[in-house]
Amino acid sequence: MKAIILAAGEGKRMKSAKAKVMHEILGKPIIGYIVDSVFKAGSEQVILVVGHKREQLRDYLKDRVEYVVQEEQLGTGHAARMASDYLRENGNVLVLYGDMPLVRPETIEIIQKLHKEENNGVTAVSVMTEAPGDFGRIIREDGMFSHIVEARDCTEEQKAVQEINTGIYLFKEEVLKRALELLENNNSQGEYYLTDTIEIIRKLGYKADAVRLDDIGEFLGINSRSQLAAAAAEMKRRINLMHMDNGVSIIDPSNTYIGPDAVIGEDSDIYPGVIIEGSCVIGNGCIIGPNSRLVNTKVGDGSLVEYSVALDSEIGGKTKVGPYAYLRPNSKIGNKCKIGDFVEVKNSIIGDNTKASHLTYIGDSDVGDNVNFGCGTITTNYDGKNKYRTVIKDSVFIGCNTNLIAPVTIEDGAYIAAGSTITKDVPKEALGIARAYQVNKEDWNKK
Ligand code: UD1
Ligand code: CA
Repeated sequence: MKAIILAAGEGKRMKSAKAKVMHEILGKPIIGYIVDSVFKAGSEQVILVVGHKREQLRDYLKDRVEYVVQEEQLGTGHAARMASDYLRENGNVLVLYGDMPLVRPETIEIIQKLHKEENNGVTAVSVMTEAPGDFGRIIREDGMFSHIVEARDCTEEQKAVQEINTGIYLFKEEVLKRALELLENNNSQGEYYLTDTIEIIRKLGYKADAVRLDDIGEFLGINSRSQLAAAAAEMKRRINLMHMDNGVSIIDPSNTYIGPDAVIGEDSDIYPGVIIEGSCVIGNGCIIGPNSRLVNTKVGDGSLVEYSVALDSEIGGKTKVGPYAYLRPNSKIGNKCKIGDFVEVKNSIIGDNTKASHLTYIGDSDVGDNVNFGCGTITTNYDGKNKYRTVIKDSVFIGCNTNLIAPVTIEDGAYIAAGSTITKDVPKEALGIARAYQVNKEDWNKK
């Protein structure tokens, strides 16, 4: 099976500089969901019809799909026609719209099976709903699928029809090719409608079927920001349910935002206000939240992250992060560490059992095991032009309010006196002091 996804439209109703299908749901663009589903359902090739703002789609999907351009948006049928060169003698092609992120691979598999068993020329998918709104209506004659009428073109009687076109179709490839050549645009919009191929295909002597499914939530199309929010709510509900079924406790699912590609281990608790985006992997028995945001971050078993942000980072097992810590990209924290309040880490590796409990900046650093950062330690990695690394070896103790001016190395077991500004390397087990001696001026107040 191959798939054609239509995504050339302007998405006028979004009122946005961003391509409609690049708007995100739980940190992932709409088009990413549909492309993933189609591949999961067994498509070997995905052809994306692009037009408006196509460079945004290309930047995101790269060479996962093949692209054909529809220069002028003359309708969904016209868009599908742009991909005609891909249609061969045998085989089946799935056609769907790029604005439907909730379609499940299992649903595509169901219609594939039926399409083959019934030897259909086209198999569409319909749903019954009491609020048919803008959806195209499925028109049946004597119970048999006859054709689809767009909401705009409906008679009053047709408008009342409650069986709607979801916008997923499986065609015999050569049949679709012939039908697309015969499409006309005599409708209220003056567009070539993909939906008109149904009637043409029947007239060509092939079977047309509409499989009636029951979950309208799966077929929400996104045309506006309010529909984007509705689809996001549905996706969130579905994802949270899946994690709970897998043994994750979510204290308040309506207030927890987990992206589709996250993995979370058993017995982890997710507190309200958590946002988990991208390819996060969270181990067993972790506590995440409240109010933490993790993006593409790994968290080892038994760790705690609260009121913190971690981007493209790795946190070991049994480590505590937060409250109010910030792990910027490329931070790797070991096991049994503590990264406490108002500690920022960036592009650094930190060994096991190391503690930075409060008010510290660790940037561009290589830190060993069992290191203790006093409150207010700063690695001064930037001289206004270049960035340099700080190396802190095992079992180093850094007194409070210390500046470590990079490049600099603190060897194993060394101590740094509180309040020092360290510019030279400190040898193994030495004490580095870099501050003025204290002078007490007696009776200074009286004078
Ligand atoms: C379409 C269906 C409707 C169905 C509904 C399901 C048609 C004519 N109507 O309506 O029956 O109930 O989806 O959500 O097919 N596109 C192009 N090129 C174009 C026009 C559109 O690539 O020239 C793309 C759009 O980018 C979009 C998709 O096709 O992703 C669907 O177009 P849209 O305008 O959203 O169709 P609907 O009015 O929702
Ligand atoms: Ca739509």
